[in-house]
Amino acid sequence: MERKRVIIDCDPGIDDSLALMLALSTDELEVAGITIVCGNGPAELGFSNARKVLRQMGRLDVPVFKGAEQPLKREYVSALDTHGRDALGESFLPEVLGAGPTENAVDFLERELSKGRCSVIALGPLTNLALLADRAPGAFGQIEELVSMGGNFRSHGNCSPVAEYNYWEDPDAAALVYDMAARMGKKIHMVGLDVTRQIVLTPNLLEYMKRLDPETGEFVQAITKFYFDFHWEWEHIIGCVINDPLAVAYFADRSLCSGQEAYVAIETGGISIGQSVVDSMGFYRKEPNAMVLTRTDPLRFFRMFFGRILRLGEDRLDLLDTLVR
Ligand code: BDR
Ligand code: CA
Repeated sequence: MERKRVIIDCDPGIDDSLALMLALSTDELEVAGITIVCGNGPAELGFSNARKVLRQMGRLDVPVFKGAEQPLKREYVSALDTHGRDALGESFLPEVLGAGPTENAVDFLERELSKGRCSVIALGPLTNLALLADRAPGAFGQIEELVSMGGNFRSHGNCSPVAEYNYWEDPDAAALVYDMAARMGKKIHMVGLDVTRQIVLTPNLLEYMKRLDPETGEFVQAITKFYFDFHWEWEHIIGCVINDPLAVAYFADRSLCSGQEAYVAIETGGISIGQSVVDSMGFYRKEPNAMVLTRTDPLRFFRMFFGRILRLGEDRLDLLDTLVR
């Protein structure tokens, strides 16, 4: 089997951590490195959390690189209210000792992408990728496929009535990346809130995980408890929406989401700041620069997610049919 080489650009982050767990358990993927951008927490916390996840997965061999510490133009606003003071659900897991690589994330992206045959899954604000596109358009153009968890089309926002967090946090970066894709004739796979909102980790699913694999289940419980509380308080959901793992699942298996190609522009000012404007009707007469995903199948997602992270065969997954709504 030929493995797809990929760099994961992220801001862990509770759901980013679940996405990393899925990527590292997916045999079809070869994670060349993890690059960190400021987002849910400052880049320093994201770096430390990525290494905590790698330790949990027994994969400290995967290099982690720290990148942008602030958005391109706006002031940095963290999402620690959503992800906890340590950006990992206030699990306060012990730090991984040792310094880790010191190369900057954007330098690593440039070096690795220039070799060719490497994709990027972006799970946070697009600041690192915008810096790359600006500084090394050739390397940016070499990205085989770019999947971005971000934006929303028909679904409402989660940071403002119309904007999703990753694009809202650094709208200038998101705008630059989508513009660059348009200029290069590339299509970004936009895994936005229309599809990720359907992926809800419920208490029953968590319990199922703990019964089958207490160690992994307890790790996931430790990092999601805060997120459960947050969702109850703000969204009246019992459970939590886990956005980022769907982008990884979709990268590994395209049949998990479907949608339509369209030209997408990102608003950089005013009350709609950060909104992904999806020209689904072709008003702008521009070639599509995105594949906008609007449909998914939560049951198939959870079969994949649990099958991979708990290493379960199909016969152990049947109970999920009754647990996923
Ligand atoms: C996105 O924002 C972050 O809080 C999550 O990690 C996810 O990437 C969802 O809007
Ligand atoms: Ca994220």
